[in-house]
Formats: sequence, structure tokens, C-alpha cells
Amino acid sequence: MKLIYEKSSPGRPGVPTSSIKLSSTKEISSEFLRSTPAELPEVSEAEVVRHFTALSRLNFSIDTHFYPLGSCTMKYNPKACEAAANIPELTGVHPLWPQLHGGGLLTQGSLGLLYNMEHLLSEITGLDEFTLQPMAGAHGELTGVMMMAAYHKDRGNDKDHIIIPDSAHGTNPASAQLAGYKVVTIPSDDKGMMDFDLFKAALNDKTAGVMLTCPNTLGVFNTRIKEICDAVHEVDGLMYYDGANFNAIMGRYKPGDMGFDVCHLNLHKSFSTPHGGGGPASGPVGVVDKLRPYLPISRITKTEDGIYSLNYDAPKSIGYISPFYGNFGIVARAYIYLLMLGREGMLGTSNRAVLNANYLQEKLRPLFGVEDRGRCMHEFVFSGSFLTQYGVHTIDLAKGMIDRDIHPPTVYFPLSVPEAIMIEPTESEDRDVLDNFVSVMEELVELAKTDPDKLHEAPITTPVGRLDEVKAARDMRLSYT
Ligand SMILES: Cc1ncc(COP(=O)(O)O)c(C=O)c1O
Repeated sequence: MKLIYEKSSPGRPGVPTSSIKLSSTKEISSEFLRSTPAELPEVSEAEVVRHFTALSRLNFSIDTHFYPLGSCTMKYNPKACEAAANIPELTGVHPLWPQLHGGGLLTQGSLGLLYNMEHLLSEITGLDEFTLQPMAGAHGELTGVMMMAAYHKDRGNDKDHIIIPDSAHGTNPASAQLAGYKVVTIPSDDKGMMDFDLFKAALNDKTAGVMLTCPNTLGVFNTRIKEICDAVHEVDGLMYYDGANFNAIMGRYKPGDMGFDVCHLNLHKSFSTPHGGGGPASGPVGVVDKLRPYLPISRITKTEDGIYSLNYDAPKSIGYISPFYGNFGIVARAYIYLLMLGREGMLGTSNRAVLNANYLQEKLRPLFGVEDRGRCMHEFVFSGSFLTQYGVHTIDLAKGMIDRDIHPPTVYFPLSVPEAIMIEPTESEDRDVLDNFVSVMEELVELAKTDPDKLHEAPITTPVGRLDEVKAARDMRLSYT
């Protein structure tokens, strides 16, 4: 097929008129053409608009409701980033366009954006080099652990396990196992940190590394990171930083300065880009110098003349983990977000995330008797166990919130806390929203004590009532009829 490039004039203010349109000179073959007209429903435009507007109103989203979903954070996605990332020069780029010569002019800007983003993330995290290829946080973890494995193999190290605290995100042990390691789980101490003595007892010459979610899923920052890093490096192990919760520390600490060797970030959590459950998203991974050779291909390089290209020549690389530019649209949004924030903005964002979480934690402590793990970072966890005496469980509380226009927080995770409720307000919510959340929680706890059946019936304001979620997950029917 022969491709030609056409110029189009979008005629929108602020959009350059040199946008590129791709079209084919070849007719569609008759075997692919309809012989009879399609049967389309005969409805008026007004009916169509009403139908889709009504459907959109059923949606529960960050644009319509408070969404304090701990760990999986549904943050706001600035509309300015959406608009800037949607210019045709970015959305129209085809991964098969040539990087250099002629067509190269069309892709140099996009490659430059990726190159700059890699360097920005290096600066923010204190790590030497980044790949933007992984398409989700868990994908970043797998990429990182595969690089750790490649490093050990290259050095002839005989390693067989990775140490992970029980407060880590659930994807950490899954990634370690997928990369071929056994997982040694370390319980948390009473402050919610990895128990240091148990960790030291588990550490030995066979330890490939330690994966720390930081801050962890209890919202706790481990204050013994330096000691842990030193001990792990002594046995030629590597320190992995799960930086999905980076929105709690960005602008304040750098994982590279703390002694970590590998780190993934969740652009869709920390850098305010849309979040699809488990992807599509973006989980860039940064590494220290000694792990550079193992980074996945392709790598973006820049010549002295300022020409960017994708480089596939990396003999020790772990290979391909995703095609072409990674999840380019998400990276573009995050890049714009970071440029909008700047250094000061980044610090302000993490400060507000921590302030909001602590505000809520202190307001709710008398109601729920939140375990005293001290100040939290961006999120905190409390237990709904005391409600079981009234026959009410965390799930009932969560469903009751839906009727009061609040998306439930993460529940029953982490597993180490019975009847867990994990709350992350994020930096983007103001005080009125947080105070309303506290009032709703007070109302629900009162209801649990006085009229528990009302909570068992919730939600009553949604198109469908209480679902059997386990059955829905295990007995899926993927059909429209
Ligand atoms: C701490 C942590 N690590 C890893 C992940 C996995 O990220 P993803 O859902 O993009 O695979 C998450 C998800 O939100 C997370 O909170």
C-alpha cells in the first residue's frame, strides 16, 4: 500500500495549520464493501443525545464525585493536559513513520518529548536512566525485576528470592514470581513498617533484592530505608522502589538518593493521567548506572546535532516489553502536567496530598479508633471491625457511601488489617469535600448502630442494587443480550 501525506487546515485557533493527515491511494476491495445498506436504528438526533446523556449520568467518575480510592488513586486529570496532549501533531503520529530523513521531521517532536520526559523523571527520582516503555505499574515492576534478574545472571550471582513486606502492593509478589523468584514475605511491625529484625533474619547471599512500596499501602514511610539499603547492597542485592505512591513524596525525596537501584512510577496515579484498572496506563522504570545495559529496547538517543532516534542495539537488554513509543498519549499528558507544576508545584502537590490525608485521619480517628501509626503520608487505613457487633461490615459502609454520592474507598486491603478501609483523598480536594466525607462517615456509623438493615440494603440509588461481586467476577457473562 502506498501512503501519501496530505496537509490539512484544522482552522482551530492555536492549532498550527501544518497538521498531517494520512490517507491511502488504494480503493477498498469490493469483498470488504457492503452490498446492502446497514440497518441503522431510525431515531432522531434529540433521542440519541438524550440516550447518551442519560447513560453518561449513570457514570460514577472523578469528574462527578469524590473518589477517595486508596492505593489505586483516582486523581483529577487536568483538562489543560488533555487539551495540550490532544493536538494533532501528537495524536496523529504513527509508530511506523520513519524517525529520520524526510518523514523523520514528523516524529522528531514526539521523540523529543519522550527523551525530555525520560530526563525529567531521572531528575525527579535521582536515578540515572529511564524507560517509558512499560504500560502499567505492574508492567513496570515486571520490567524492573527482569532487569534485576539480568544483572545477577550477568554477574554469575546465584540468587533465588526477593524479600517483600506484607504492606507492599499485591502486584509486587506477583511480579517477583513471574520473573522467576521465590517471595519471602516479612510482616509489618506495630508502626506499619517492615519488621527490621525479621528482615535481617531473612536476608542472605541468595537475596536478589528487596521490593519496598514507599510510602507503603498503610500510608507509612519507612524510616529505616538507609539501613535496609546498606544491608541489601552488602549481599550484592538490589533495592526496588515501588513508586506508585510517588505523589506523597515528589519534590521532597529522591529514591536514587536514598539508595534505591530500580524504581517504577505510575504516571496514571502520581502524574494525573487517566487510570484504567491495571492499564492502559504507563509505568516508567528508572535505574542506576550499573543496570543501564539491561533496559528494554527501544532506547531513545540524541545525536550531537539534536536528532532523536530509536535505538535497538543493546546486546544485554531484557528485550522488548512493548512496541514503539510505549503508551505515548499517557506520557504526553504526564509530561505536560510536570511542566505545568514545575519544581515548586510538585512539592506543593505532595504537601497537600499528605496534609489532606492527615486531616481526614485525625477527623476520623475518634470515630473509628484508627490505629496509631503516627502521621500518615498520602493515605491511611483503618478497620471497620468494631461495626461487626452491629452485624455491619466494611462492605455495607462502602455501599452506603454510594447512596451519598461518594465513591467507596478501597476496602479489604491491605489484608493485614481486618475489615480494612483505605482512604486516599488526594491533593486536589478542598476542605469542604473532606468535611462532607467526615459527616457522611459519621452518619453511616450512626446508622450501623441504630438501623443496620438500612445499610445492608444499600445502594438504593443506583440502576442495580447490591450485587454479588464474587459471582460477578467468577461467572462473567460478556454479552450485550
Ligand atoms: C503501590 C502500587 N504499586 C503498584 C500498582 C500497580 O499499578 P497498575 O495498576 O498500573 O498495574 C499500584 C496500583 O495502583 C499501586 O498502588
